[in-house]
Amino acid sequence: MRTVDTIIRKRDGQALERDEIVAFVSGVTSGALPDYQASALLMAIVLRGMTPQETAWLTDAMVHSGIRVDLGDLPGVKVDKHSTGGVGDKTSLILAPIAAACGVPVPMMSGRGLGHTGGTLDKLESIPGFRTALSLDEMRAALQRCGCAMLGQTAQIAPADKKLYALRDVTGTVESIPLISASIMSKKIAEGIDALVLDVKTGSGAFMKTEADSRRLAESLVSIGNASGVRTEAVITDMDMPLGTAVGNALEVIECLEVMKGRGSADLVDCSIELALRMLVLGKVASDRTDAEKKVRHAIASGAALDRFRQIIEGQGGDPRVVDDYSRLPAAPSRFALKAERAGYVSRLDAELVGRASVVLGAGRDRVDDAVDPAVGIVITAKPGTRVDVGDPVLELHYRETAKLDAALALARRSITIADEAPTLRPIIVGEVR
Ligand code: URA
Repeated sequence: MRTVDTIIRKRDGQALERDEIVAFVSGVTSGALPDYQASALLMAIVLRGMTPQETAWLTDAMVHSGIRVDLGDLPGVKVDKHSTGGVGDKTSLILAPIAAACGVPVPMMSGRGLGHTGGTLDKLESIPGFRTALSLDEMRAALQRCGCAMLGQTAQIAPADKKLYALRDVTGTVESIPLISASIMSKKIAEGIDALVLDVKTGSGAFMKTEADSRRLAESLVSIGNASGVRTEAVITDMDMPLGTAVGNALEVIECLEVMKGRGSADLVDCSIELALRMLVLGKVASDRTDAEKKVRHAIASGAALDRFRQIIEGQGGDPRVVDDYSRLPAAPSRFALKAERAGYVSRLDAELVGRASVVLGAGRDRVDDAVDPAVGIVITAKPGTRVDVGDPVLELHYRETAKLDAALALARRSITIADEAPTLRPIIVGEVR
């Protein structure tokens, strides 16, 4: 079988055979397949698509490029949650302790921020000392100790994805439902979970800008998960505006702690509760949604979620005192309030532009190996729907360097729209796929 024939077949819109897909993935994993051929095939897939069967074979081949962890000896239904990525999307830090406090074991393997979206690992690492580079043995130990491990993808998990994602990132081949599905689900299936809740974002700050595309992605992800024996459901949630009020790593940690203390903005609280209660039902510690919601709310109100977060932080080498003393988290030296230039209602706060402004301040990265500044970011002081007068602050930029502030301001100004009428905002939970 010649790779060039596989490329030609996909270029001409034909469905690939399983052995062609397996050969492609093993060539990428071993390094035997040249990048130019891998890239050509990726581009053909972007343009021609893949059938559900091809996507399932691709996912399976990527799972088998590494190991599939077996957590069967640990008690309980292991449940993870994965988000397709957004701005201010910090729910993992809230859900993991809540679900663990309610008795669901949570092996949570997360990623770093890339482009305008943030990443769970960067947020966790803003807690002094917090280690996310756990081995699989350390993941097990953390699960046994406090029912939760929050870590980065290890080298043994879907190594083909690491290579493919790096290629896709520089060849304009990220935006493809089959490629995104195989990338996400290969990692999730390999990590050894029994069930998965997906948060598929939709809107300006998401990979998928339209509800129809987000639904197609959600359907693809859910069907791959269920076919692989991982009970999977997806919630489609809004990402036209940033989630909650903080964008930037340490700022988002503080916001998560506030939610676990019973405060926080309604969109973030509602999104977190919806995802957490699904984890409880899938994890079989709640009989139905009503029971699950009661348990989730109790974990917050009783302080059990916060206590569990302290244990997680301490167990992974972090300073648990940050929970009660935010001054122990990194803070930017300067702040700039971006004010309303006219009176009216904040009708739009473009998530992608806010995310890009935050990256320019240093909170995110353009390349996978760039360092991030844990302290900088943006706090939203007037969410869409808020009435403002001239001079009222809308965004507060936390910055370290004036040159970066100037560049970020250009984007942040464009993100804000103020109108005479109050906007009709869509609900945070847009839909579901089960
Ligand atoms: N996240 C992933 O892990 N993979 C993709 O392809 C896109 C988002």
